[in-house]
Parts: sequence; C-alpha cells; structure tokens
Amino acid sequence: MTIFASIDGTIQPAEQARVSVLDNGFTFGDGVYETLRTYDGRPLLLGRHLERLRESAGRLGIEIPLADAELRTRLRALLDRAGHPNAFVRMIVTRGVGDVSYNFDRVKGPTVVMVVKPFESYPASHYAEGLTLTVVAVRRNHPLALDPAIKSCNLLNNVLAVREAQARGAHEAILLNDRGEVAECASSNIFVVRQGALSTPPLDAGILAGITREALLEIGAAAGLPVAESPLPVDALLGADEVFITSSLKEVMPVKTIDGRTIGSGRIGPVTAKMLAAFREALPRLCD
Ligand code: PDD
Repeated sequence: MTIFASIDGTIQPAEQARVSVLDNGFTFGDGVYETLRTYDGRPLLLGRHLERLRESAGRLGIEIPLADAELRTRLRALLDRAGHPNAFVRMIVTRGVGDVSYNFDRVKGPTVVMVVKPFESYPASHYAEGLTLTVVAVRRNHPLALDPAIKSCNLLNNVLAVREAQARGAHEAILLNDRGEVAECASSNIFVVRQGALSTPPLDAGILAGITREALLEIGAAAGLPVAESPLPVDALLGADEVFITSSLKEVMPVKTIDGRTIGSGRIGPVTAKMLAAFREALPRLCD
C-alpha cells in the first residue's frame, strides 16, 4: 500500500517522512485532526472539515497560519502525487516542536501534516446486514475535562473504548456520557429510527459535531422525515426499530445487534436503506 505524507508542504512516501520527537503532538497529544475521504479524486465536504479543523485548533489556542486555499493546494498536490482516486485523508495540526515541557512560548509551530492512503472499502455485508455494537464501560470524556467537540489527537478515550469493544468481538463501541445517556461511538455518531422518525443525541450530550451527522440531518429533513436531536437513553436505543451509525469513512452503516440483542429485523431497515441511498445520491454535490 502506498501511503504519502505532506509535512509542512513537503511531500514524501510516508515511510520516509519524519516529524520531530520533540513535536508536542508526540509528547503531549497536543494537536487536532480531521479524517475525510475522496470519491473519484474529489474530497467530500472539505470546506466543512477545514472549518472544524480550525475550530478544534482554536479551542486549544493553536492558530493555523495558512488560509484554506493554501491547505487545499497542499492537499491537491498530495492527492495528485499519491494517485489514489478513492483516498483516505488525515490532516493533522499539532502545536509544533517544543522541548518536552509546558513552556508553550518555546514551541515552534504549528506542524501541518497530511497523510493519504488508498481508501479500504468495508465488506458489503456491513451495509447489507449491519454491525455488531457494544455499550462499553468507559464513559465519553466529560466536556469540562476534554470536550469531545474538539477533534483532538489525544484519542485515549476512544482507544480504551475500541479495545473494550474488540475484546468483546464487536465492530464499534457505544460510549455513554457522564449522565448515562448514549453519546456516540468511538469513531462515529449514532442515530435511531422510531416509527419512521430519525433521532440522534444532541451536541450537548458531549459528542463530536459529526459532519456526516449534520449532512444526514439535512438529507433526512429534505426527504420529509421527522428528525430530532434529543437525549437518548440506553433503553430507547435497544428498543429502536432501526439503528445506524455515521462517519466520513463509514457513510451510513446499519447496526445489526447491540450487546447480543437484535435490532429490528437484524438486517438493514427501510429508513436506514433510504438514508444510505440518499446520502450516496447527494455525494456529487457534496464533493469539492
Ligand atoms: N471519526 N464521533 C467521533 C468520536 C469520531 O471520531 C468521528 C469521526 C465521528 C463522525 O464524524 P464525521 O462524520 O465528521 O466523520 C463521530 C473519524 C472518521 C476518525 O476518527 O478517523
């Protein structure tokens, strides 16, 4: 697999690309990131990803001194060099190179990294039948500790959740917030369908403002479905007619079981199928 990286605008094969061991991203997890994909060479919702990258960085007091146009030019150059029409893209901005201390005034940065590799499609069965999920014991970070709205490189909360899910043989972890309500998955947002209506936890449940989640809320409303952002108790999740999860990589993926309990018919439900089809249909106008 050919992975290419752009570090502060210099493109290299990833195995040759180097970031300093003194980079705050490495020593403190002090940075932010975005994951997105391209379809036939065109990045999906790149403008929204750049906006969220800048917002996340701003929450950490990291100013990105490059205009969106420059970030877009760098990404285009990297995509052209890598040559994968359907690519996985990760953009990472760290505070920069420090001296392994909290003396932020000594940090030279930020460091702006982009990594591109071929997008690996999920098995067709994930879309036809759905995923196996589990509600993990680890809770989503409290917004007053490390706000999940910041897409930070400090992913240990998510790593702990995924490790717990994998140990149980599940595809994805469902995290609850400190109030015990459903928040989101380790790398996706979650939706339920009840009597034909769509619902997803609100932003104040302490979640990432997912870009696919936002697109789906718009697409659902445009399709005439009732859509709501409302607190989601675990019982309502388990009793839903359909459950699906969304992310920039997964698009719209149905859920088959949660902790061994079958959701709906145990195959993709009609509303989930409709949302997946509508999302795919919208792709050409959502790509930059
Ligand atoms: N994850 N919630 C969390 C915790 C996430 O990490 C992600 C994205 C999402 C979905 O957001 P979006 O629709 O904007 O991709 C929700 C990406 C794919 C990742 O971490 O690589």
